[in-house]
Amino acid sequence: DKAGHRHFMAKEIAEQPSVIGTALTHYLTEDGRDIVLPGGTPDFTRIERMSLVACGTAYFACLTAKYWFEQLAGLPVDVDIASEFRYREPPVSKGTAALFVSQSGETADTLAALRYCKGRAGQVLSVVNVPESSIARESDLALPILAGAEIGVASTKAFTCQLTVLLLLALKAAHARGRIDDARLSDLLSQLRALPATFNTAMEIDPDVRIAARDLSGAQSALFLGRGLMYPLALEGALKLKEISYIHAEAYASGELKHGPIALIDETLPVIVMAPCDALFDKTVSNMQEVMARGGQILLISDAKGVAAAGDETWQTITLPDVDPVLAPILYALPAQLLAYHTAVAKGTDVDQPRNLAKSVTVE
Ligand code: M6R
Repeated sequence: DKAGHRHFMAKEIAEQPSVIGTALTHYLTEDGRDIVLPGGTPDFTRIERMSLVACGTAYFACLTAKYWFEQLAGLPVDVDIASEFRYREPPVSKGTAALFVSQSGETADTLAALRYCKGRAGQVLSVVNVPESSIARESDLALPILAGAEIGVASTKAFTCQLTVLLLLALKAAHARGRIDDARLSDLLSQLRALPATFNTAMEIDPDVRIAARDLSGAQSALFLGRGLMYPLALEGALKLKEISYIHAEAYASGELKHGPIALIDETLPVIVMAPCDALFDKTVSNMQEVMARGGQILLISDAKGVAAAGDETWQTITLPDVDPVLAPILYALPAQLLAYHTAVAKGTDVDQPRNLAKSVTVE
């Protein structure tokens, strides 16, 4: 049932404020001031490092979580693509907590990587959407994301719910390790509780995204740029666009631009820049100037302050509500999803069942 939407993907994008709210209710105490992990809490004071493993969009959720675990909790994190990890057979010690992220809980490579870590890692954790899945069953602790069934092949609400649960886990770790105090925890949790409402407001970008998508649908290729927490989001934006609109897209960390991809810039290449007005914003503006000086067409996705600071030379802009930089990846997933969605609709591709792709990759 598409609940009045044209595609499951549109329905699942629209459901995000509600399912993020469900995940928050599940993991927060009634007064909303503390985090509870109903299945038990890992002893974060004894964990020395974390190893995060996944495929596709779930892998980008892990890349985002690396920033959170490292910056908030001071925990070193390795992130791996499951198919690389399992055959590389890396050393895994008892001081490591291995964490597997999977919507379906049945992805063959992720499951094999989990089995490799059993008996080697100190603890095997998972973040899954399907609680009865193999990955959930074989973990010491499975954290459900409670996104509800995701039908569209392109993952949307599972991604934002994965991010929500991973952020809660990182905050729990940061608090247990004495890296953030009660006041900062309580401040971030109150902002998280406000996120479903902020996300709802952000839905108002839809008409602007449609206009940008009309132009993008004529492109052969597109480049996504982001720094820090926005870099994994740029990767996710490029994957979404490839999957459902079949437009070639690549993502780079903004600082890598002059190490190669700048050679691609001309009037025909749309460059999508994801950059809230945070501590790194000025650096991103100088990257945008480099692109514009070479005739590149920029779509800037930022907040009101960022859009104003970038000036009116930019090709197009999409303005999101203000949000604490720590939470920004969850909100900035929305324009990445909507841009791919409207571009695919403009091209007339099969949005929910893109060619050559399966929802769950249970074979290698
Ligand atoms: O079920 P999983 O989360 O383990 O699936 C991982 C990937 O196959 C999945 O995220 C894929 O990249 C999606 N089609 C992305 O939209």
